[in-house]
Amino acid sequence: MKVAVIVLVAAFCALVYADSEYTTKYDNIDLDEILRNDRLLKAYYECLEGTKTCTKDGLELKEILPDALKTGCSKCNDNQKRGAEKVIRFLIDNKSDWWKNLESIYDPSGSYRKKYQEDAVKRGINLPA
Ligand SMILES: *[C@@H]1O[C@H](CO)[C@@H](O)[C@H](O)[C@H]1NC(C)=O
Repeated sequence: MKVAVIVLVAAFCALVYADSEYTTKYDNIDLDEILRNDRLLKAYYECLEGTKTCTKDGLELKEILPDALKTGCSKCNDNQKRGAEKVIRFLIDNKSDWWKNLESIYDPSGSYRKKYQEDAVKRGINLPA
């Protein structure tokens, strides 16, 4: 399975990272709860955006995100890939302004968008213009 998409906010899903594989210590995190909780979600967003102080796991996410983008989440386990895709879908659908802002920060040249777009479309994910 191609992992690509996963990326942009690949990590929103939480996760952290070691050298070969990202840590699994957050694998039991309840993503749905975070997505349902606007205050909590916003805290992660503002952490990634760099406008607010990060929580410990937010910081770990922020640190790993560039690597996850670069490697297409190849160090993510299946659970993390599913989580990343879920978060990506949620953000694009419900928080497209956040998504676009994060894209401008983490993919300023648009190279990742170019790299992952085809795979995203195959998964039925339409990146906001
Ligand atoms: C967008 O938000 C609604 C309401 O919280 C939710 O039911 C829906 O699943 C979200 N969309 C995606 C793609 O996750």
